[in-house]
Amino acid sequence: MSHDGTSLLFVCLGNICRSPLAEGIFIHQARHRGVLEKFVVDSAGTGDWHVGSRPDPRALATAQKHGIELPSMARQVTPNDLANFDLLLAMDSANRDHLVDMGARNVKLMRSFEPGNTDELDVPDPYYGDGDGFEDVYTMLVAACNGLLDELS
Ligand code: 4NP
Repeated sequence: MSHDGTSLLFVCLGNICRSPLAEGIFIHQARHRGVLEKFVVDSAGTGDWHVGSRPDPRALATAQKHGIELPSMARQVTPNDLANFDLLLAMDSANRDHLVDMGARNVKLMRSFEPGNTDELDVPDPYYGDGDGFEDVYTMLVAACNGLLDELS
């Protein structure tokens, strides 16, 4: 890609819950570490139902509670993304499999970067659950984003 730094695409199903949170948390942490300019960050969904939408109100509320902004406007993953981004971070194994089926070779599960986590590697989809799901997702993503930043630094 025609930029300096490492480009990261966070990917979930709808691009309104998990991947916008991952994107916002990563930006927040990278800025806090003083390394934000080393990265190009975006998020996308494997599905197209919510294209053009801002994040789910529950994702926005969870982020706001922790002082984090979510810049995302939902879009669908495109074939160009597979070539243009250095690393695709899939929120769960279904998202990962979808990207691999599209031909991606640079995909990793987001939770594989969560320090010490070896058993549950999916970020659970909070869309159909109650509000607590978003706080759980937030906690996982904070740990995983920190691990990812450690790995990339
Ligand atoms: P996300 O959550 O993949 O974390 O954005 C979902 C949002 C919407 C739907 C599924 C998951 N949906 O089926 O509309």
